[in-house]
Amino acid sequence: MKILVTGGLGYIGSHVVVELQNEGFDVVVIDNLSNTSIEVLKGITAITNKEPVFENIDLRDKALVTDFFNRHPRRL
Ligand SMILES: NC(=O)c1ccc[n+]([C@@H]2O[C@H](COP(=O)([O-])OP(=O)(O)OC[C@H]3O[C@@H](n4cnc5c(N)ncnc54)[C@H](O)[C@@H]3O)[C@@H](O)[C@H]2O)c1
Repeated sequence: MKILVTGGLGYIGSHVVVELQNEGFDVVVIDNLSNTSIEVLKGITAITNKEPVFENIDLRDKALVTDFFNRHPRRL
């Protein structure tokens, strides 16, 4: 199952991403890097041996969010 974690490179989000990946979920992260670093993505990958899909998107930008969901349609 694919799971979206917004703010997924932040303090709480990055720990959630690690746990979800360790449980076998495919994780997609949205983060605009306003309060974190791309280095966190490397850390998650090193810990879990799997790189989550990462999208640098500002969630306040409706057009970008709409485009994101067009590219990542909901799977039933
Ligand atoms: N114990 C510790 O070492 C420690 C360290 C950091 C934070 N904290 C605590 O954790 C809490 C904060 O953690 P958090 O994970 O909620 O916050 P966070 O700021 O760590 O994570 C939020 C993430 O969302 C991203 N973001 C913010 N606005 C965005 C937007 N418009 N679009 C896309 N991405 C956006 C940021 O870049 C960040 O990566 C606070 O209570 C803080 O005190 C503790």
